[in-house]
Amino acid sequence: MKTMVWEDGVLKILDQTKLPEKIEYIEAEDVKTVADAIKRLSVRGAPAIGAAAAYGMVIGANSIKEKDKEKFLAELEKIGYELASTRPTAVNLRWAIDRMMNKVRDGHDLDIDGIRELLLEEAHKIFCEDLEANRRMGEYGQELIPENARIITHCNAGALATAGFGTALGVIRAAHRAGKNIEVFADETRPLLQGARLTAWEMMQENIPVTLITDNMAGYLMAQGKVDMVIVGADRITANGDVANKIGTYGLAVLAQAHGLPFYVAAPTSTIDMGLASGNQIPIEERHFEEVTTVGGTRIAPPGVKVWNPAFDVTPNELVSAIITERGVVQKPYPENLRKIMNSRTTADGVCQGENPAK
Ligand code: MRU
Repeated sequence: MKTMVWEDGVLKILDQTKLPEKIEYIEAEDVKTVADAIKRLSVRGAPAIGAAAAYGMVIGANSIKEKDKEKFLAELEKIGYELASTRPTAVNLRWAIDRMMNKVRDGHDLDIDGIRELLLEEAHKIFCEDLEANRRMGEYGQELIPENARIITHCNAGALATAGFGTALGVIRAAHRAGKNIEVFADETRPLLQGARLTAWEMMQENIPVTLITDNMAGYLMAQGKVDMVIVGADRITANGDVANKIGTYGLAVLAQAHGLPFYVAAPTSTIDMGLASGNQIPIEERHFEEVTTVGGTRIAPPGVKVWNPAFDVTPNELVSAIITERGVVQKPYPENLRKIMNSRTTADGVCQGENPAK
């Protein structure tokens, strides 16, 4: 199942709010439709929203009527702000938009049509490099998974959350494809149920044994000795190795430590934000109260009840056993080792040439 498809200047976005009941694509032909799809979580997951925003910039550039290059770039910048303001926590969104803007500011003497072509090429590269990063993360990460491992994951860090293959689920997928007998426990992930709706579905599609649990069952499952490790994705990793990920991840990390289990984070280097020293600087998105007071459109709480709905939490670096990236597995001490990995060559160099990978 493709998270998004690029076809003739239109971004077709798989509407994940409808999964697993319906497979429907939103045809985004303007920036507002892309921005709304990101806000509503029709497209979600840090790398996927980065790629969608990159294509959103292409759609935006194609719609700008301005003939003067400086004014064209100023309008493009505004489009970048509009897309970046949709969700604050996942750094991949800002990263992809900055990358697109930096490309056109590179000091070349292209005309506006040339800039449009360059932007499309860059969006294709962002998509393609993510796919490649996920495959590589899978190769590195699956080595950490022993035969017969029972793994808990949280939210959806799968093909649906990326350009394809997935980060945490990519590692799990790679272990399964390597012939390892593994079992996955998917946290349902309240309030929006990405684990129940998306992770369980993705695993079942590939015949990877999966058992769905509600979030509050993880501790008891571990206490029963039925879990060997936790693997999750990330929305932003700061320079010291603190990890923002879907709300509930922190609790899982504390439980893993209490039960002596490894807690792995799988994320591409595009999720690592060396500009922030630690996790307390990460902006945490707070979402609408109705996501908590309703399930599947049915109200489950008294009208008027006060609600708090942070979409993410921060797991401190000391609870993270290792960070799996496309450039290798990063161990503690994170400040030093993350810096080293960020300064190393990008592994996708030369692999992605800018042709359409999102067909
Ligand atoms: O709110 P969501 O569904 O976008 O949150 C997604 C997550 O928290 C994922 O775990 C994270 O983005 C990593 S996806 C490879």
